Amino acid sequence: MSITYLENIDVRDKRLLIRVDYNVPMDQGVIQEDTRIRASLPTLKMALERGASLVLCSHMGRPKGQVVPELSLRPLAQRLTEMLGVEVAMAPDCVGSEVEAMAEALKPGEILLLENLRFHAGETKNDPDFSAQLAKLGDIFVSDAFGTAHRAHASNVGVAKLMSTCCAGLLMQKEWEYLGQALTDPKRPFVAVSGGAKVSGKLELLTNLLEKVDRMLIGGAMANTFIKAQGYDVGRSLVEDELLQTARDILDKAKEHGTDLYLPVDFVYADGPKSEHAAGICIAQDIPADKMVLDIGPATRTLFAEALTGAGTVVWNGPMGAFENPAFAEGSLHVAKAVAESAELSIVGGGDTDALLHSSGLAEKVSFISTGGGAFLEFMEGKDLPAFKALKECGA
Ligand code: 3PG
Repeated sequence: MSITYLENIDVRDKRLLIRVDYNVPMDQGVIQEDTRIRASLPTLKMALERGASLVLCSHMGRPKGQVVPELSLRPLAQRLTEMLGVEVAMAPDCVGSEVEAMAEALKPGEILLLENLRFHAGETKNDPDFSAQLAKLGDIFVSDAFGTAHRAHASNVGVAKLMSTCCAGLLMQKEWEYLGQALTDPKRPFVAVSGGAKVSGKLELLTNLLEKVDRMLIGGAMANTFIKAQGYDVGRSLVEDELLQTARDILDKAKEHGTDLYLPVDFVYADGPKSEHAAGICIAQDIPADKMVLDIGPATRTLFAEALTGAGTVVWNGPMGAFENPAFAEGSLHVAKAVAESAELSIVGGGDTDALLHSSGLAEKVSFISTGGGAFLEFMEGKDLPAFKALKECGA
């Protein structure tokens, strides 16, 4: 079963129900960051140019089936109107007779944005009645919310079962093609870079990628667990003691598969992530008992940059240290530069890594930044994400 793409179907005079992911950070009704809104525009523009009318739906936050005014999508209608240069009407709800009438009245080229799907408990429960109400709002279902692709909810799974025509929008298509290519047909050498705070959230990712990559680089606080697993004392650094054996198993598995696994060889340490300055640099044997490791050191930056040189494909998730504090950002910035400059195809995922690339001005230099957080991780874990599964099964 394959996925149908929006670009391959005739949408003229059709009403498209498009699932987007507008789960953007808000502060008192003001949009703080609009990457996900911008990422949805190519699909919307293509559908409008081809003569469709659009009904857009999304969740925002986790209101748990209650109407939470601060999580209204209304500010998004305004922002989309500005971005598209077309008036985007706001629906008072996402289902019900009034919304159905508004959807039915749409003419080609017109857009209606539905209110937050999670104001109804049926959304996250994948409730068939709620899915059926949503399905009434369009002729064709367009799945374009990659950020939510790992959830089996009414608006991305239930609804697809009820509609005869479904397709992936341009964003889903791009994510599917880039991420899929990395996992199934990577240009080699294939290098994975993994960072961030915890091994626990990345276990399945590490295990899946270890079998596929030629080199794996591990940095960030999650590296501390590996360092401790090798018998070193990591002082007051973040560490997951319950995963020491798991870390050893991963190191063994890397050997079995012939994967070169790189861990930091030196560290920047300080009293804590809020310290104004680093207190020093040391090797694993010398991490002070009263300090925390907060970044990879200069020798590791060089080592990691060398391991990235000439890479055919790089998949990177998670920073190399407490990069929000400029005192501990150097390691992550070096790796960002090396990824951008060295790899033929560079794919980056996860909110922190995305923020780092944007703040360092390197975002344009990588091949693809995924819009998924959890969805990116689960895709890289090798899971068949519910939204893609639903697309494959639609109309079957
Ligand atoms: C995300 O931001 O990762 C997605 O929009 C999914 O949101 P959720 O974790 O609340 O389901």
